[in-house]
Amino acid sequence: MQSAELKAEVPQHGTAAHPMPRSAGYQVLPDPSPLGLGAEPLPNAPPAFGVRAVLRLRRAMQKLTDALCPPELAMFDTITGVGKTALLGAVARHDIPDLLERGPLDAEGIAAQKGLDGDAVHRTLRALSTIGIFRLRSDGKFENTRLSRTLCGNKVSRIRELAIHYASGSHMAAWGDFARTLSTGRAAFDRVHGMTVWDWFEKNPDEREIFAHVMMGLTLQDAPVIATVYPWSEIKKVCDVGGGRGSLLSELLVRHPHLEGVLFDAKGVLDSADTLLTARGVRRRVELVAGSFFERVPSGADAYVLKNILHDWDDASCRTILHSIRDACPEGTKLVISESLVERNSSHLMGTVADMHMMTICSNGRERGVEEIRGLLADGGFKLARVFEYPTMSVLEGVAT
Ligand SMILES: C[S@@+](CC[C@H](N)C(=O)[O-])C[C@H]1O[C@@H](n2cnc3c(N)ncnc32)[C@H](O)[C@@H]1O
Repeated sequence: MQSAELKAEVPQHGTAAHPMPRSAGYQVLPDPSPLGLGAEPLPNAPPAFGVRAVLRLRRAMQKLTDALCPPELAMFDTITGVGKTALLGAVARHDIPDLLERGPLDAEGIAAQKGLDGDAVHRTLRALSTIGIFRLRSDGKFENTRLSRTLCGNKVSRIRELAIHYASGSHMAAWGDFARTLSTGRAAFDRVHGMTVWDWFEKNPDEREIFAHVMMGLTLQDAPVIATVYPWSEIKKVCDVGGGRGSLLSELLVRHPHLEGVLFDAKGVLDSADTLLTARGVRRRVELVAGSFFERVPSGADAYVLKNILHDWDDASCRTILHSIRDACPEGTKLVISESLVERNSSHLMGTVADMHMMTICSNGRERGVEEIRGLLADGGFKLARVFEYPTMSVLEGVAT
């Protein structure tokens, strides 16, 4: 896609002498039952006002802290954030939080068990302990804190995988070229790697695996909201377009026993969808269909879901996706879009951070506001009917016209 001279050096995962554990003991798809996922619905999401209040309070306290210290100090902390991302990715990749769950250890003890360098381990965990991730005790041993414990490998939230994903060489290389994204408005990932992140995942299945778990963690948090705010009783068959391994679809089917489902995604993604759907007791109600939403999507559903899909793509690509769905369905069919709504002049913290990710990593994607989505829907043959807002993830209903 991009000329060779624009291609940057992409950090590789280790060397022959020091191979980096690419999946750090990850099974291809771990049995989700230890994660507590079964045929029961996930816990309900907290009320919107509570989530909004916590997010605002956190941001206000962070601003207050910065306002009380010299601005250079506050900026130093922010500017060195990339280092923290790398440290967190490394300790997650080497499963150090899991090791510390068995008891406090000094750096030499950690290094001996993990085949690492003791001095590097001590300095890394000491640096992280200054921000509350790990605790350095007076006897020189490290122990977990509530923050470092989120990086353990057995959590539904998949924060461990989020850390590995953000610190991966392919992502870091793209962020390293952000200055040219600012001047061109074009995604750094495509420019640096010469392919979209989705094509990259096809060629690097271990990174796709990590990303699938990141999405699973995020979506399992959003799924109870989507499953409850939208009137699913009006629907019989739902097709989740780009539905990943079925994190959302499984929750919809668990909570609404009358629903049948179709899970549509790339073949390599669907190949690992069975375990989750089976654990959640819905496998027999789901048809798996592999394909590309740029070509065609399955017909026969009375509702199509697009969760965190439109934000991955530029407007032209979104129109193609919407046309594929419209071509597959009759007038009156519902389209349920789930996105984080970001209006042009809003300061929605999580949404604007996600927007930067879409601009840099995804194919010129972006977070959008209601009117932008209304316009895309109109171009694609749908009208915007209802909007169900939630602070982290809203639901918009389109109807095929
Ligand atoms: C950001 S993830 C969202 C996954 C899921 N909807 C969720 O929210 O958990 C984007 C999904 O789109 C899928 N995808 C990307 N390109 C696709 C294509 N051309 N056709 C079908 N699925 C695609 C990816 O495999 C991935 O599962």
